[in-house]
Parts: sequence; structure tokens; C-alpha cells
Amino acid sequence: MLTLLAYAVLGIFTLGFLRRIWIYARVPAPLVIPTTPAPVTKMGVVFRLFKEVAFFESLFKGDKLAWVGGYAFHGALAVVLIRHARYFCDPLPAFFAHIQIAGILAGIVMVGGLGFLFLRRLLIDRVRYISSPSDYLMLILLLGIGITGLAMTFQFRPDIVAIKEVMSNLFSMSSASLPLASIGDVIFIIHLTLVGLLLVIFPFSKLMHAGGIFFSPTRYQVDNPREVRHVNPWAGKK
Ligand code: HEM
Repeated sequence: MLTLLAYAVLGIFTLGFLRRIWIYARVPAPLVIPTTPAPVTKMGVVFRLFKEVAFFESLFKGDKLAWVGGYAFHGALAVVLIRHARYFCDPLPAFFAHIQIAGILAGIVMVGGLGFLFLRRLLIDRVRYISSPSDYLMLILLLGIGITGLAMTFQFRPDIVAIKEVMSNLFSMSSASLPLASIGDVIFIIHLTLVGLLLVIFPFSKLMHAGGIFFSPTRYQVDNPREVRHVNPWAGKK
């Protein structure tokens, strides 16, 4: 049952994600609208997108508070997920053993960053005005995952050996059942359920900015309308 559910969740996430990318890729972009100053070569565009993904450059220019919270959250999330390899890999490569402390600290920074982003939406009038329920929902969901994670790390230890076995059974598509002998195990089940929920919601939500960034004309277009003649394929058509 758990195995079926896990594969259903992964299936919805993967197909949903690919479907959205397919939709993004087919949306016409008939006008040249890069945000200037913009790169004038393709290599320049690659560099621009790299800065966007690695440093959230335009967010930094546009909104310093959102950048601080957003960068703390995303950077820490990356470290947390790398640390999570210990629940999936056996034997665990030595590298992962060395980043365990960094991973735990990252968990705290991640939850702190999310809390900061949440307060920003609640306390700044003009941000609250443009916030929709789903903006809050995403933050609450991620906070729920982070807080249950930290609760397991610092207070209610789950049966990590049993969890690792569940994960390896899921990978090999054999049947798996979750440990249920302590509060830590219950918190783990909540943690896992929230992660599943996040994966199912992901392709239908604003979290798709993770893929959408590469399909944003203002970012990926080369600023070359003086060198190249662009003709809108719709021009003259009724
Ligand atoms: C199938 C996927 C996942 C499993 C099996 C899993 C399992 C766990 C477990 C067992 C812990 C307790 C840490 C310990 O003390 O050993 C933990 C902690 C944590 N998890 Fe997850 N988790 C998963 C996905 C995620 C995701 C997607 C996120 C973030 C969005 C996340 C965020 C955290 C955080 C912030 C902590 C606390 C910091 C840490 O100990 O690394 N987890 N997770």
C-alpha cells in the first residue's frame, strides 16, 4: 500500500512537472522583451541565468527582504536535502558523513528563513495585500516539513534504521511498512505525509518557478534587435 502510494506521488510529481515544462516551452514569445540592461550574446544569457539561479540576482535588486529570507531558505534546503542522502544510500559515501552537522544547522536556517518569509507577508502591508491563500499555504507546508524534521533531530528520535529500511524497500519496489513505536515515528509519518503533499501540489503551484525561470523571455532573450530583424510570426494575420 505504502509502496503504491509512494509511486503514485512520484508519478504525479514527475508527469505533472514535465507537462508544465511542455506547456511553458510551447507558449509563443513573439516579441523581443529582455529586461535591460541585457546580454547581447547567447553566452551572456547563460551567464545571466546562472546568476539568477545561483544568486537570485533580480530578486536581490528588487526586494532585499525577500532575497534574505528566500536565499537563506533555498541555500539551506540544498544542504538539508544533501544530508538526507543518509536515509537513501547504503553504504553512505564518506562525504555525507562529514556534512551531518552542517545539515542540522541548515535545517535551523531553513526554518528560520521560512519563518522570516512568512512574517514578511503578514507584517508588510503592501506584501500582505498581494498575498493569496496559496502563498501562505506553501510556506506553512514547508514550515511543517522543517519543524517536524527539527523535532525529530533534537527531541523525538524516530527509528532511523527502520526508516532506512523502508526507503530501500520503496526503491526496490518491495512492500514496506512504517515504524510506529514512538512519538518520533509518528512525527516521521507526519513529515513524510507533508513531503508527499508537497510533491503532489508542486506541479500545480507557484513552486514551478523552479523550472519556469528558464522559460521567462525577459531573462532568456538576447538583446539583439539592432543586429537581427525580428518578425512577429502573427504580424498581418487576422
Ligand atoms: C522521502 C523524503 C524524506 C525523508 C525520508 C525524510 C526523513 C527525515 C528524517 C528521518 C529526519 C530526522 C533527522 C535525523 O535526526 O536524522 C529529517 C529531518 C529533516 N527533514 Fe526530512 N525527510 C524527507 C524529505 C524532506 C524534504 C523534502 C525536506 C524539505 C523540504 C525535509 C526537511 C527536513 C529538515 C529541515 C529536517 C531537520 C534537519 C535535519 O536533521 O536534516 N525533509 N527528515
